[in-house]
Amino acid sequence: MSLPYPHRHLLAIEGLEPPYIAGLLDLAESYALLNRSGKTQRDLLRGRTLINLFFEDSTRTRTSFELAGKRLGADVINMSVATSSVSKGETLLDTAATLNAMNCDLLVVRHGQSGAPALLAQKVSAAVINAGDGTHEHPTQALLDALTIRRRKGRLEGLTVAICGDILHSRVARSNIHLLTAMNARVRVVGPPTLIPAEAARLGVEVFHDMRSGLRDADVVMMLRLQRERMAAGLVPSSREFFRFWGLDAEKLAAAKPDAIVMHPGPMNRGVEIDSAIADDPARSVIGEQVEMGVAVRMAVLDVLSRQLLRNA
Ligand code: CP
Repeated sequence: MSLPYPHRHLLAIEGLEPPYIAGLLDLAESYALLNRSGKTQRDLLRGRTLINLFFEDSTRTRTSFELAGKRLGADVINMSVATSSVSKGETLLDTAATLNAMNCDLLVVRHGQSGAPALLAQKVSAAVINAGDGTHEHPTQALLDALTIRRRKGRLEGLTVAICGDILHSRVARSNIHLLTAMNARVRVVGPPTLIPAEAARLGVEVFHDMRSGLRDADVVMMLRLQRERMAAGLVPSSREFFRFWGLDAEKLAAAKPDAIVMHPGPMNRGVEIDSAIADDPARSVIGEQVEMGVAVRMAVLDVLSRQLLRNA
C-alpha cells in the first residue's frame, strides 16, 4: 500500500493537505478493523523504540500510544517525567538529546508549552509526534475524532460540526478546526465570548455565543473540557452557572439534528460541560468509540512515520 504521508514528524494538522489526512484515516480504519478482529501486526515496528515523554498528565493519549506501539511490535518506554532528571533541572532539550542518544526512533511528546515538540523535532533524529502542546495542537486527537465521525456519518464533507465550550484554551479545538475545515465540513464554535479566541473567524469557522443557535441542525456536537488550569481568573462564572448556559443537556441537544452524535475528547467534567445522561447515552454519545479509534489512529501514525524513517535511513 502506498502511504500518502510525506513528513518526518507529526507536529500539527495545520498545513496538512487533505489527501494526507484522508490517507491517514483510511489506514487507521484498517487498523480499527484489525484491532476488532483481535489480530496484531508485530513485525512492522520490531526493533524500533518508542518513548512516551509526557510533561503533562494523560490517560488516553499515553496509554493508546503505548498500546499502538506494542501492537506493532515496538519496544515502548513510558518515561516518568516526575521521577526523571527533569526534577533536577535538566532541560527539555537535554532530556530529548539524552533519549535520542539511546537510538530512540519515535518520540511522543506532550508539553505545556506550545511549540515544544516542534523545537525537539529540530534537535533529534527520532520522528517526533506531538501528543498535545500547550494551547497549540493535538493532532492525533483530531484524527481520531475525524475517524469516529467518518465511521458514524460516512463522510466529513458537508457536515455541520459544533465545537462547544472552552475553545480559547483548547488544542483539541484548534486541531479539529484545521482538520474539519480542510475536509470541507462546516465548523461552528460555540461558547461565551471570554472563551472564544479573537482569531476564530480567521480560522474559517462561524462563531455563536448561544448554545441553542450554535447547535441548530448540527450533525456533530463536540463538547470540550473547561480548562481551569490554563485560565486567568474571572473568565467564567461558577461551574453551576457555566453548566446552565453552556453545558450540554437534553434540552440544548434537542436543537441539533435528531441523529446528531455527541463527542468529548476527555477527560470529562460531568455536570460542568456535559450532563451524565447525555455522556452515557449509547444512542447519542460516541465517546467510547473515540477512545477506541485513538489506538487505531496512533497505529496508523506510527506506521507511516516508521516507513519514513526507513526511507530516510
Ligand atoms: N483527550 C486526551 O488527550 O486525553 P488525555 O489527556 O487523557 O490523554
